[in-house]
Amino acid sequence: MKLFLSVLFLTAAAVALVRAAGTDGEISFEYHRYEELRKALVSVWLQCPTITRIYTIGESFEGRELLVLEMSDNPGTHEAGEPEFKYIANMHGNEAVGRELLIYLAQYLCNQYQQGNETIIDLVHNTRIHLMPSMNPDGFEKAASQPGEIKDWFVGRSNAQGVDLNRNFPDLDRIIYINEREGGANNHLLQNMKKAVDENTKLAPESKAVIHWIMDIPFVLSANLHGGDVVANYPYDETRTGSTHEYSASPDDVMFKSLARAYSIYNPVMSDQHRAPCRKTDDDSSFKDGITNGGAWYSVPGGMQDFNYLSSNCFEITLELSCDKFPNEDTLKLYWEQNRNSLVNYIEQVHRGVKGFVRDLQGNPISNATISVEGIDHDITTAKDGDYWRLLAPGNYKVAASAPGYLTVIKKVAVPYSPATRVDFELESLMERKEEEREELMDWWKMMSETLNF
Ligand SMILES: *[C@@H]1O[C@H](CO)[C@@H](O)[C@H](O)[C@H]1NC(C)=O
Ligand SMILES: *[C@@H]1O[C@H](CO)[C@@H](O)[C@H](O)[C@H]1NC(C)=O
Ligand SMILES: [Zn+2]
Repeated sequence: MKLFLSVLFLTAAAVALVRAAGTDGEISFEYHRYEELRKALVSVWLQCPTITRIYTIGESFEGRELLVLEMSDNPGTHEAGEPEFKYIANMHGNEAVGRELLIYLAQYLCNQYQQGNETIIDLVHNTRIHLMPSMNPDGFEKAASQPGEIKDWFVGRSNAQGVDLNRNFPDLDRIIYINEREGGANNHLLQNMKKAVDENTKLAPESKAVIHWIMDIPFVLSANLHGGDVVANYPYDETRTGSTHEYSASPDDVMFKSLARAYSIYNPVMSDQHRAPCRKTDDDSSFKDGITNGGAWYSVPGGMQDFNYLSSNCFEITLELSCDKFPNEDTLKLYWEQNRNSLVNYIEQVHRGVKGFVRDLQGNPISNATISVEGIDHDITTAKDGDYWRLLAPGNYKVAASAPGYLTVIKKVAVPYSPATRVDFELESLMERKEEEREELMDWWKMMSETLNF
């Protein structure tokens, strides 16, 4: 009896110690089937109701909800000046590690927030974070239903219609490669084409829902979590010539490398220079420091990563988190430990570059104004409140804000690694300019007539 009590006491003390040290005491490292995933998100919401919200962006082909847990100091609204971030996992239903990591991440952020962790409190107060643990819940159920520990390499990859969701997005790379040669838009290539998206019968319901999501929310940064290898992959995914392997730089190649590195650097397996390839037959020759250009690895047409960059302001990279797509449950804790710091650090990258507001001389916001950077052929646009975020690697830049009917303003900006440099723009409308010129002319006439006495 005495022994039993002291064991109990010790256990309680150990739990208290673990909590005081702020470790992951309340996370249970296991797989979550569809209902369990929903329950896990609800329990985070119940634990942290003031900073979380659960919403759905639509349904899978078989009618499962595409659930998102949002974390922010004002859940449910875009706050002027606050950047938006997203993680999407389990787009390939049998790539299960990312799905679980996003559940653990939600639990971790909630726990740390409650324990007063300043880093996490700052992050949640200054960022609107969206976590979608599963973009392909039908595929996951199919993969998870296979008996035994070893799962087939392909079962559950596609959605319930047999569509590979990461080949199902509108192939905007083909358009941008033409525009690069012949001139044309360098951003927002699906502008004013929402109807065409809705009417496109080739798009799976999961892809459609995500396309709307990407186009409706002013996301700045994102990552798309996969499995089957261990690397952080950045745009472009599709090669310019159509060849299978070819380095395919985007205009933001320098920043994308820096973003991918910000993930890999904290993952000891991903950044290990001497890591053996997952399988002897794998060609990892394009991997360096745990990162790779997508096209240099292998060309992917119709992927979600490039679609984000070419249809919206959002920069997305693709994270391959594990050699095994559906590893044994008892390894999940290890994957969390390998990825926890990377997952948090990558969200923090949303606070880099240049950010601010574009307004007119009366202080009214100008939405949909263009922010362009000299030497980088990829513009971004302002959101509803005239707010913008332009991710940039450290350096000196000339940044221009322009909008139809306004005079363009150009500013020189020095950008450190982080945090983002605040640069606001006040644009004079051409109408105002004309009015000013007219008034100046009238004053001049008045002066002249007074002087000459007519
Ligand atoms: C607070 O959170 C950061 C980011 O995840 C982590 O590195 C740090 O260890 C946490 N601090 C404590 C006291 O747990
Ligand atoms: C944003 O501006 C572009 C070009 O300046 C225009 O084609 C597009 O319709 C505008 N979008 C909105 C939502 O106003
Ligand atoms: Zn995948």
